[in-house]
Amino acid sequence: MSTLLEMLGCRYPIIQGPIAAMNSPRLTAAVCEAGAFGMIALGFSSPEETRRLVDGVRELTDKPFGANIMIMNPANPEILKILAAAGVKTVTTSAGSPAKIYPLIHDLGMKGLHVLLALPHAIRAAGEGVDGLVVSGSESGGLRSMGSESSTMVLVPLVADHVKIPVVAAGGIADRRGYRAALALGAQGVQIGTRFIASEEAPAPQVWKEAILACGDGGTTLVPLTNMKMRVIPNKKLVDLAADPTVDLSQEYNLMNAPKGWMNGDFDLFPAGAGQAAALIKEIKPVKAIIDEMVS
Ligand SMILES: Cc1cc2nc3c(=O)[nH]c(=O)nc-3n(C[C@H](O)[C@H](O)[C@H](O)COP(=O)(O)O)c2cc1C
Repeated sequence: MSTLLEMLGCRYPIIQGPIAAMNSPRLTAAVCEAGAFGMIALGFSSPEETRRLVDGVRELTDKPFGANIMIMNPANPEILKILAAAGVKTVTTSAGSPAKIYPLIHDLGMKGLHVLLALPHAIRAAGEGVDGLVVSGSESGGLRSMGSESSTMVLVPLVADHVKIPVVAAGGIADRRGYRAALALGAQGVQIGTRFIASEEAPAPQVWKEAILACGDGGTTLVPLTNMKMRVIPNKKLVDLAADPTVDLSQEYNLMNAPKGWMNGDFDLFPAGAGQAAALIKEIKPVKAIIDEMVS
């Protein structure tokens, strides 16, 4: 058994990628019941919300599940204690330096995988005591950096060559070809975002799922925000704004509106989030069918 699978405690090394505030115990439990590692996305959640989600998942499955925290959330110490008390053994950490939070994660008896987008951050995080890395290539959905980024195909083997801890590949993986490729590149597992948004169990509105199905090759773009970029499927409003040289897109779109825009299907508030893997997704399927195909 790989170190990653020991850490996750599930059958397949497939992690449900956190998607902003898109949480539903039904989705997380379905991922766990299908043999993968279901997650709850706690980015900027409160302890109360954490408790509600943890209890909801526990009502539906007794299998191990995890949670993602954003490092800058001041409620993290309390959130981590709730997770540990509920038996969560592994968390992922995003957006920030892991140095300060990992001692607490370890004191609580948990392990953590740190999410990063570039080699220097991988080397630094490995030196700061994280237990594994989620390596997210440029195809990936979600937040991206302002810099030039490497694709999953380049970044995963690059990081695997430089660290001794388990590497999880994220970005561009939607089926068994991507899953196998990731393992061949030196990853012990994968993190899947966009493919699970377009699942039957995902609480995403139908228009978001349909935007992913309709997305073709080159059908996503990076919207500039303050100090970051977000990968989205452009709609008419975004295309019109981007064509106007007097418009500063980073003033038009506020990251804090993304969860609301996505969950309400209001893509004028914030365009539909998705990774390049959307081009590979042609059908909304139950989570079990997605995972079965991936490991077949
Ligand atoms: C719409 C959207 C929102 C995301 N939000 C988060 C988030 O809140 N925290 C995080 O760590 N990753 C986030 N991600 C990244 C995913 O967890 C996952 O790593 C990524 O989607 C993998 O690439 P894929 O979409 O090609 O599968 C998000 C991805 C998408 C598509």
